[in-house]
Amino acid sequence: MYQTFQENDLDTTLNHIENRIKEFGLSLTNEDGYKKMREQYNKQKNPLDLFVLIAYSFNHQIRFNNNHEFNNPFGRERSSFNASMKQNLEKFIIRLKETNIGFANVCFNNFDFTFLKNNDFVYCDPPYLITTGTYNDGKRGFKGWTDNEEKQLLKTLDNLDKQEIKFALSNVLEHKGKSNDILKSWVASNPNYKINYLNFNYSNSNYQTLDRDKNASVEVLITNYEPQIHQKEKTLFDEFNF
Ligand SMILES: C[S@@+](CC[C@H](N)C(=O)[O-])C[C@H]1O[C@@H](n2cnc3c(N)ncnc32)[C@H](O)[C@@H]1O
Repeated sequence: MYQTFQENDLDTTLNHIENRIKEFGLSLTNEDGYKKMREQYNKQKNPLDLFVLIAYSFNHQIRFNNNHEFNNPFGRERSSFNASMKQNLEKFIIRLKETNIGFANVCFNNFDFTFLKNNDFVYCDPPYLITTGTYNDGKRGFKGWTDNEEKQLLKTLDNLDKQEIKFALSNVLEHKGKSNDILKSWVASNPNYKINYLNFNYSNSNYQTLDRDKNASVEVLITNYEPQIHQKEKTLFDEFNF
């Protein structure tokens, strides 16, 4: 969808959207029109039609079944292609077309990292092994995320590190009583990797020594460099969370 936004003239995209809305009589209440449009999308898979569907779907969610068919229900009285969505879309497309961005929709294992140089930066926000994201269980068209994918991604990051390419990895070390031991031992065995705690109360001390809520998430950003953190200086009147 983003690639199509980038390639098309802005007017072509906007006309396509307006024409579909007319053709199917899409509105805040026309569920039948929405369902017909959804049926057509699932046959033709036109990326711009996917955008139209999302505009009218429940909570604007993008959801598919195991056959890769869009199956999000209608967003009655809530979702439509309104003036502010149109304005945001226009701004987004203009920016997209003036910026040099390439999109890839492949598994990280099939992504070619060889074009990167040592002043490049790779940020990864993968599914978290110990949480239950909709993309973790291998359903709804997703491949799933298991110990295998986790280890392969960490190996990919090790390879980047060897080439002196900086990386940052978002993840959770603990969540609702579960612990990501693969991740913990990976960091422990690489002395130049740094755990940056995103929960403020862990950031100034060793989280293992704190008496903390066993159900809490320990959210981290793991980097192979020492990040420069610009923090506002605390005054006596700020709340301390130690
Ligand atoms: C924590 S979410 C990232 C959300 C993203 N930062 C955002 O703001 O939209 C994890 C993402 O990893 C994607 N994903 C799952 N398996 C993948 C794989 N094998 N290769 C690449 N991406 C994958 C999921 O589709 C999901 O979008």
